[in-house]
Amino acid sequence: MRHERISIVGLGAMGSALASALLEAGREVTVWNRTPGKAGELVARGAREASSVEEAIGAGGLTVACLLDDASVREALGPALRKPAGGTLVNLTSGSVRQARELAGWLGGYGVRFLAGGIMAVPPTVGTEGSFILYSGARDLFDRVAPVLGPIGRPHWVGEDPGLAALYDMAALSGMYGMGAGADHAVALVHAEGGDVETFKREVLRPWMEQMLPITVAGADVSESVPDEYNPAMQATGLETILSASAEAGVPADLAGHLRSSLWRMQRAVTAG
Ligand SMILES: NC(=O)c1ccc[n+]([C@@H]2O[C@H](COP(=O)([O-])OP(=O)(O)OC[C@H]3O[C@@H](n4cnc5c(N)ncnc54)[C@H](OP(=O)(O)O)[C@@H]3O)[C@@H](O)[C@H]2O)c1
Repeated sequence: MRHERISIVGLGAMGSALASALLEAGREVTVWNRTPGKAGELVARGAREASSVEEAIGAGGLTVACLLDDASVREALGPALRKPAGGTLVNLTSGSVRQARELAGWLGGYGVRFLAGGIMAVPPTVGTEGSFILYSGARDLFDRVAPVLGPIGRPHWVGEDPGLAALYDMAALSGMYGMGAGADHAVALVHAEGGDVETFKREVLRPWMEQMLPITVAGADVSESVPDEYNPAMQATGLETILSASAEAGVPADLAGHLRSSLWRMQRAVTAG
């Protein structure tokens, strides 16, 4: 099973990293990219370059698509699907829940078995410890694919609904961007008031964020309620202080949106008693 041939469709930063990790693990890899000239290094390391997407799909027991977006997947694969040949496609292109469900239906119409995926890594961390790949779709297919694609990141199945991998991927990215917005705001504040940004990042921001990460994730909630131990009145006052300190420092208001949404949550909790 592990030696099933794999075709990678798309050699952008991520597709190239996926192909590289698979070659590193000794897998038999065929690659294709819309714009030629991106396969040189991979070919030198043992990959085979297909001259068309049809050839790539035909070469592999398993095809992995990693393209820009849902539209590019349909554009790239569409012509090749006019000759229904079955096969298996794992789509590691980011997209929405609806797009993943519709893609599953579209491919199913051609007899293609389909797993949707979400890559929880960036190109330099593909296949490294801690990286993982979300998959959704038929469990038996996941069980077949997981050992084959193990080298690109720990396989993690999230359910039969093909939209689930996209859902968790997008939601997790939203968490990451929120964290990034907070870090950008923190650095802007330190910079605006003449602090040493690099020292602050190393000695304060990182250890603080590491300490608070588990509590932050555990405390994320869709309800209006805030646990008593959070003391929403105190939190609201603290958030107002950070917002006024930001205004005093002239830090752009758009960097503080995450503070306002936290403040509103605390204020609603105070109002609700
Ligand atoms: N990079 C990351 O950190 C990261 C992390 C997690 C997930 N992802 C996801 O991985 C996917 C690929 O990302 P990337 O970083 O590799 O992007 P990228 O470097 O911009 O590469 C995009 C790839 O899509 C191809 N492409 C675009 N439109 C196409 C079309 N109409 N037909 C055929 N091929 C087309 C490009 O081919 P050409 O060379 O011909 O333009 C290229 O191979 C995205 O969905 C992204 O969200 C990326």
